Amino acid sequence: MAGKLSGRMLLVVDGPAVLVHTLEFLRLARQNGLTVRVFPTASALLFQSINAWAAYSGQPCREFERLSEEDLQAAEVRLAAPASVRLLELLLQNDQTARYPWLLAPALLPEDKPEEVQQSFAALLQKHHKLLLPGADVSDLGAMGKLALASPGHCLEAALAELIPQELAGVRVLLTVGPTIEDIDPVRFISNRSTGRMGQALALAAARRGALVTMIHGPLADPVSDHPNIRPLAVRSAQEMYDATLAEISRTQVAILCAAVADFTPNIYTEEKIKKQGAEGMRLLLRRTPDILASLGQQEKRPFLVGFAAESNDLELNARHKLQSKHCDILCANDIREPGCGFAVRTNRITMFFPDGEKEELPMLSKDEAAECICTQIARRWAK
Ligand code: CTP
Repeated sequence: MAGKLSGRMLLVVDGPAVLVHTLEFLRLARQNGLTVRVFPTASALLFQSINAWAAYSGQPCREFERLSEEDLQAAEVRLAAPASVRLLELLLQNDQTARYPWLLAPALLPEDKPEEVQQSFAALLQKHHKLLLPGADVSDLGAMGKLALASPGHCLEAALAELIPQELAGVRVLLTVGPTIEDIDPVRFISNRSTGRMGQALALAAARRGALVTMIHGPLADPVSDHPNIRPLAVRSAQEMYDATLAEISRTQVAILCAAVADFTPNIYTEEKIKKQGAEGMRLLLRRTPDILASLGQQEKRPFLVGFAAESNDLELNARHKLQSKHCDILCANDIREPGCGFAVRTNRITMFFPDGEKEELPMLSKDEAAECICTQIARRWAK
């Protein structure tokens, strides 16, 4: 199906396999469409049997000692996580295994310094190998002590970077995501039903293709994706989103404006909570907020612009008008009346319109899959 990831991974696990950690990695990898074949070392098998690893991965499993040339060749990405120092040496000194590129996540003691580990392996590491060093996270194995290891998310992103063509490598992308909040008084505000899921999916899809993403976002339904290429910047109101976007724009090559920005904001913010004081009604005066997308479209040196439009009628007519009036390079439109489309659902049916008169009608897809398709068009069109 359009936009779905896939890939064959070979995973060597070494003992004491940080079980929860490895299981979480397997879950993430499978969820992201990877087929993982596990090769546990003898020490990993002291903790979990071959059958257990086969069940966790959903694939046949063999001992590391029986790893063959065929297995090495069949894999598109090879990961050793966790890897003891002994396993690292074994993989890197053996001609048969060292010929293939490896992602290596050494299991370190909390006091080990990652730079020193990197240095100690420098002589063995060829250009095609990557050492995945731990961040601040330390796994607590209870009676077995503590271990520092690259997180499951870190390992997954490193693996996906090997599988996904890096067609946006180094491209500076700015995204606006989620709703904005327009405060009325200290307790009340105006907002909308956006969850930020479409924008978050786009941030991740672009980051996974190598883009350096600045994500300017309102309040989100899900946590921000843990990807080293995503820099989140939280804002609240439409004005704050506008200011943050304009401050970043000179460094931006591609801007994707996905946020559901409030079009109107209260004329004045009341510092103290508004009391009803026996009134039967009240009048709230609103004024227009700045249109971020339109402002970027008017810039002399504007970035490649991707806009969104949620329409309830005359989709193509309205979308083409927005494409032109806001000077977009791609306009992604959806019909909000269609079930499964738009706000607060996990799917969307988007049609992309382009200035050359072309369009691409996507089928009903998950927002992650739709984001993949949009990024494919960006990669195809932005440099032209
Ligand atoms: N947008 C923006 N700043 C605003 C309003 C909208 O950047 N203040 C962006 C959105 O992020 C989206 C596109 O503009 O990319 C939506 O355009 P808009 O004309 O606001 O769409 P609608 O809200 O559907 O407008 P209308 O009500 O006029 O149809």
